[in-house]
Amino acid sequence: MRAVEYDRYGSSDVLQLREVPDPVLRDGQVLVRVRAASLNPKDVLARKGKFRLFSGLKLPKGVGYDWAGEVVQVGAGAEGVQVGDRLHGMLQPWTRGGSCAEYVASSLDTCAPIPHGLSFEEAAALPLAALTAWQAFHDFGALGEGARVLIHGATGGVGAFAVQIARALGARVVAVCGPSNQGFARELGAHRVLDYTREDPCACGETFDVFFDVFGNRSWAQARGVLAEGGLYVSTVPTPALVLDQARTALSARRARLVVVRSRRGDLAALGGLVERGLLRVVLDQVFPLDEIAAAQERVGSKHVRGKVVVAVP
Ligand SMILES: NC(=O)c1ccc[n+]([C@@H]2O[C@H](COP(=O)([O-])OP(=O)(O)OC[C@H]3O[C@@H](n4cnc5c(N)ncnc54)[C@H](OP(=O)(O)O)[C@@H]3O)[C@@H](O)[C@H]2O)c1
Repeated sequence: MRAVEYDRYGSSDVLQLREVPDPVLRDGQVLVRVRAASLNPKDVLARKGKFRLFSGLKLPKGVGYDWAGEVVQVGAGAEGVQVGDRLHGMLQPWTRGGSCAEYVASSLDTCAPIPHGLSFEEAAALPLAALTAWQAFHDFGALGEGARVLIHGATGGVGAFAVQIARALGARVVAVCGPSNQGFARELGAHRVLDYTREDPCACGETFDVFFDVFGNRSWAQARGVLAEGGLYVSTVPTPALVLDQARTALSARRARLVVVRSRRGDLAALGGLVERGLLRVVLDQVFPLDEIAAAQERVGSKHVRGKVVVAVP
């Protein structure tokens, strides 16, 4: 099959589209013909070598974690799935990646049926980013009706889903993004929008039950002053300071936490339910053909995408 790989870490010109062996199907897995994959900042960081200790030292590495496609083969013990089923999913984040390819082998617990009404491109855009938002709001205590939520970095991959999910859960949402995305954040459902070039979310006159630092450039020390009693600061970016803050606040009323996304069928199915009820839409920043993978990664690396960058796999 054709797949994108790299043999050394570096800039986007290390990426190569080439012939590689098809994935080996294990028991409990399905083989999927990928129709679209989506990219995340993690793909850019991995290519630069930032995760080399977590994803194994062996090269070459594959590119991409999110995929959507059709089942072409069902492995022994993979029950309830048929050839032709439309699925989407996310390869677990500690693996070598590889969804920017013609085929992936996936366990059934890391994928789910594509929600009705979504194209392959939209379905591929959803898993990693939407799961991150979902897990940030559920894994550390459920977000209740009427909760006050601040989303810092509200219009990119994770943020655009986070605003909508928080609204669907009944929260009041304050979104933080740049000047060109103020109207877009309102369209996503934010009640109030702050411009990070002019306004400080840690001095905006409100307190929050959840401060979701999606962009990851605010610290617990800055955020705790605007947290309500029992409030939660969640960041997506692991830093030594955050690890210490997590430990220090483990038993406190106000807590700091790092969200580490995992592929979970149940969470994907819950997100699919929101899509089908019209509460969650997928916004595509740009769709690139597979042979323009370097340009697609450059777009993600800009840190100013609106929604998600997707790669169509012919
Ligand atoms: N821990 C995990 O499991 C996990 C999972 C997913 C993602 N992540 C991490 O989460 C981060 C965000 O991921 P993503 O996919 O949402 O990235 P993204 O799509 O690149 O996010 C872009 C967003 O960040 C905003 N932004 C840019 N500069 C900013 C600044 N100085 N201050 C505040 N906001 C700013 C952008 O707004 P404008 O365009 O308006 O400037 C846009 O809303 C990445 O670092 C990623 O690696 C971690």
